[in-house]
Amino acid sequence: MERHGPHLRACLEPLYGAARGFDAWFDHLTAQLAAAAADRPAPLLALDRTREGDPNWFLRSDMIGYSAYVDRFAGSLSGLTGRIDYLRELGVRYLHLLPFWATRAGDSDGGFAVSDYNAVRPDVGDIADLAPLADALRAAGISLCVDLVLNHTADDHPWAVAARGGDTRFQAYYHLIDDERLVQAYEAGLDQVFPATAPGNFTYCAPLKAWVWTTFYPFQWDLNWANPAVFGEMAAVILGLANRGVEAFRLDSAAYLWKRLGGPSRGEPQTHLVLQALRAILAIAAPSVLLKSEVIAPVAETVRYLGAAAAPECHLAYHSGLMTAGWAALAEGSGDLVRRVLAEVPALPAGAGWITYVRCHDDIGWMVLAPQAGASPDEAQARLARVAEVYTRGGAEDFARGESFQTGDGVAVRGLNGMAASLTGIEAAVDQHELDRAIDRLTLLYSLAYAAGGTPVIYMGDELGQTNDQGFRDDPLKAHEGRWLHRPAFDEALAEQAADTASVAGRIHGRLKALAWARAELPPLTPQTVPEVLAGLPDAVVGLRRGLDDIALFNFSGEPQTISLDVQAGEIWRDRLFGDPRGSRIVLAGYGSAWLTRVKS
Ligand code: GLC
Repeated sequence: MERHGPHLRACLEPLYGAARGFDAWFDHLTAQLAAAAADRPAPLLALDRTREGDPNWFLRSDMIGYSAYVDRFAGSLSGLTGRIDYLRELGVRYLHLLPFWATRAGDSDGGFAVSDYNAVRPDVGDIADLAPLADALRAAGISLCVDLVLNHTADDHPWAVAARGGDTRFQAYYHLIDDERLVQAYEAGLDQVFPATAPGNFTYCAPLKAWVWTTFYPFQWDLNWANPAVFGEMAAVILGLANRGVEAFRLDSAAYLWKRLGGPSRGEPQTHLVLQALRAILAIAAPSVLLKSEVIAPVAETVRYLGAAAAPECHLAYHSGLMTAGWAALAEGSGDLVRRVLAEVPALPAGAGWITYVRCHDDIGWMVLAPQAGASPDEAQARLARVAEVYTRGGAEDFARGESFQTGDGVAVRGLNGMAASLTGIEAAVDQHELDRAIDRLTLLYSLAYAAGGTPVIYMGDELGQTNDQGFRDDPLKAHEGRWLHRPAFDEALAEQAADTASVAGRIHGRLKALAWARAELPPLTPQTVPEVLAGLPDAVVGLRRGLDDIALFNFSGEPQTISLDVQAGEIWRDRLFGDPRGSRIVLAGYGSAWLTRVKS
């Protein structure tokens, strides 16, 4: 409290200082923190101490993540312990579980409509399973990351039920507006996240004779973060889960917390203060725990959620620009967009880093590349539309089998759904040659994610080349939501082939393992060492310098590319991925990558 309390208060005062009883409320929060700290189990306290002395602990080269739905990956929370060896083999040390909390009945937006933050979906277990799971993972060197849906609750959360029943205390937990003109005034400044399946940002609630702010689905009620009680409730949830052994929180939809008339209500300054205050709370009561912002936006925007040295915010942020640029580069056969995105990445504050990834449970939103894709919005739009088309045309001669998602507005390029294996050509391949190229494309994107500076996260199933799951169309609760195309159940049969290097699953699995091994040997990048983008290479090739003696090269075209590198007398380059020595003239195969390190010859 002595070290972080003043900053906590400095964040909260501009948000809630004007509320009646602020001082008493802050004292209560302080007491809540003291109680949580006193309750913290000894092993977690020990972890706090170690990590406090090593704020970059999670930026190690051997840190690899994995993201999965509990039910789809392992059936239940307790079933996950049976998957630990599988994860360790891939080098995983960070497991992000998509929301497994109690949800409303019916559609729950894939678990993102939470009806109880302290209870688990009955079909995956019980909240009592969480601590043993976290312990088992920790014993295996894996940090558990859970989703925290802090922008909204389900419409059947007890707070929402009480609000609907007329309880004014809980009505103040949400944004209820009874004046239609005001609703329209707000709406005018807002984008739409799901314009096709959930148009508009407000939902009329007849019993209340008012509109409820619902940025996402009508059954997801946005919380009113301008109410200090909401902050207190969420702080309690975070502290409680941290004491059960959760080591990281993925802060879902973190950009939307604070609302403002006349603007998009995304990334408002107050939202950043809320996040900084949550960070300060963890710094006080559970300092080994990480916050990860889920903000899918251009790189200049996402980086803001990592804060600054004097104002730390989240520890981790999704590198959505880089992820999307990788797919765009494959479509264009040019490294241009990857280079442009990377050129905009600044040095980060201590204890902050990126999540690099290839796929996740959401669509790929092309518009995050708008700032890099053209000099004017029209130019960017046209270019990204061409990129998107490569993945959705689906013709006999096209390698990709993706599907369009909905857009944020009528003019934006539609997002993309599909498993990485289907988008890179594994599903459509008709012969060995096409299959080889498809596996090379998938490996290339993972190679970039593993080497570009950040913690790479594997999306469940990618390591086995799992393709699109069309089964969702038969489920009435899912059929309207194209994102289920890439949320398959873990394929046990493919997993059985993981060690068989002749199988597709085995080849991909083997390559991801090789990337993990090679990565563990890479000198770690600190938040201040941003990989430098090499100039003067062929357009198809992205080259990154990681420290003095390491270079990574990625060829986004299907054609071989020749690159000349400097070597001094008595030195050679060695490929960390395949071990072979390379001279000053490097030939990168089509869709190939190389991680070169300078060694004495
Ligand atoms: C995040 C999730 C997405 C969900 C939305 C609303 O963007 O990743 O799956 O639909 O938030 O909770």
